[in-house]
Amino acid sequence: MTLERRRFDALIIGAGGGGLRAALQLARADLNVAVVSKVFPTRSHTVAAQGGVNAALANVMPDNWHWHMFDTVKGSDYLGDQDAIEYMCRVAPELVYELEHYGVPFSRLDNGKIYQRAFGGQSQNFGEKQAARTCAAADRTGHAILHSLYQQNIRAKTHFFDEYFATDLIRNEEGVVQGALIVSIQTGETLLVEARTTLLATGGAGQIYRTNSNALINTGDGLGMALRAGVPLQDMEFVQFHPTGLAGIGMLITEGCRGEGGYLVNSEGERFMERYAPNAKDLASRDVVSRAIYLEVKEGRGVGPNKDHVLLKLDHLGAETIMKRLPGIRQSSITFVGVDPIEKPIPVFPTAHYFMGGIPTNRKGEVVAPYKDTPEEPVPGLYAAGECACVSVHGANRLGGNSLLDIIVFGRAAADEMIRHIRENPYHEEIDETAVEKVLDRLHRWDRKGEGETVEGLKDDLKKAMEDFCGVYRTQELLDQGVEEIRKIRDRLPDVYISDFSRCFNTARIEALELENLVDVAMAVVKSASVRQESRGAHSRVDFPKRDDQQWMKHSLYFLEGDRMDFKPVRTKPLTVESFPPKERVY
Ligand code: FUM
Repeated sequence: MTLERRRFDALIIGAGGGGLRAALQLARADLNVAVVSKVFPTRSHTVAAQGGVNAALANVMPDNWHWHMFDTVKGSDYLGDQDAIEYMCRVAPELVYELEHYGVPFSRLDNGKIYQRAFGGQSQNFGEKQAARTCAAADRTGHAILHSLYQQNIRAKTHFFDEYFATDLIRNEEGVVQGALIVSIQTGETLLVEARTTLLATGGAGQIYRTNSNALINTGDGLGMALRAGVPLQDMEFVQFHPTGLAGIGMLITEGCRGEGGYLVNSEGERFMERYAPNAKDLASRDVVSRAIYLEVKEGRGVGPNKDHVLLKLDHLGAETIMKRLPGIRQSSITFVGVDPIEKPIPVFPTAHYFMGGIPTNRKGEVVAPYKDTPEEPVPGLYAAGECACVSVHGANRLGGNSLLDIIVFGRAAADEMIRHIRENPYHEEIDETAVEKVLDRLHRWDRKGEGETVEGLKDDLKKAMEDFCGVYRTQELLDQGVEEIRKIRDRLPDVYISDFSRCFNTARIEALELENLVDVAMAVVKSASVRQESRGAHSRVDFPKRDDQQWMKHSLYFLEGDRMDFKPVRTKPLTVESFPPKERVY
């Protein structure tokens, strides 16, 4: 059977905010751009972002990008690259105003300006007092941004392949990325998309954990594709656990609740964050708040019949504020745990939320990696943006509100670089047919209906192993065991069959392909975590409780081949201002 082929200037894999912001830039430059999405674009996970997007607009109190930069560097526990952080914080206001002009219905202050709320780790004057920097559309900011970007793309004539799954990149012998193989989820038909530039914007992989705030689609597909194409993953040990997932469910309860004045209490009714972060209290950075909740529960001050969660108190804010600023949270709480926060506190517990690590890129969105015997350099034709990328602006811990910012800033930056590349390389190179055969072979390995180990069974084991061996608190013993467990799970993959005939075979096959990505990402996380012998940001080692700048002020790199690890320096030099040197991180 002949393989269908289409050619585009740019191929974007993933239709969340990063992918759509990039696509818009390319389409407006009159380029021929295709967006491939495994769900209808407005169902991408950006839709679930609640609290807002950070930009120093100074609408409610004095603010500037330099304070934002300081907070981000400190929040990253000094592992973030300061050139990229400076760039992101400087352009943030421009990008937020751009969103406003695309039609994002931001909440408003009485004077008509964009509403901004306080979020964790934000400060005025380099740590002096709390700032309010998060621009919000009530508690549905991601939803508002995603819909506006989608509509703008339709207007700009971006071509969408909805409900297509990208299986693998096509990378030729010289290391050039020439597009990707995609599969129609409905029909199972394959299509080869040849592209002069390819952007991975596939989001995170929260589904490697049992309790997470992510959509079911967050299976690390771009991360898996990059690994199989020989690109390492950077800083994968840093997984953010959001402090307030709905207890027992994991669904996100926005930090915006605490930004509006909500606070956490334990079984004794104590506002315990005062002990852990005397200044910032409930608005300390996420890693700090998540660890505090774990300790409260561990020390017996948890709430509920099993004493396994804490409470988020909002009732003192009053019905009007809750209904105006947090309507979605109220609805989710009523629907999923039967609690109306106007009357009673919401049961919460940390939930796996975000990957600070990912595909290594520079601040122009170019994927930067070694290839064969050559040292690290941009991979021709390949770009990444958003959660699947590691720029690295979040370092070891991301601040709330910086992820929506990351996707729009680096979605645009990557597209600008792609435009430059396309203009300088006006012709499609001949595609490497051997590389195409290789990715087709991998796909067809999954054409196996039958009896045996199921996709669901293996996935459950994977999630449990990650929770047991690579959660908030880690030790060498646990992590080494985790590496072994994930290796065993990986070895079982060839025995997995697609046996659920109650659904469409193609859908089941896609779940098997997703499982392969999840397994590879899980190994990257646990292996990287087992190597880093210090505590920094979200990586909390009970056996190495201190940050060790002497030995570990460096980014980790995980390679799929041989589960090999390597390291590279942190870029501590900003673009125009002085560096922020590492300090003890207190809130
Ligand atoms: O809490 C939240 O609304 C999540 C925001 C974020 O992860 O940036």
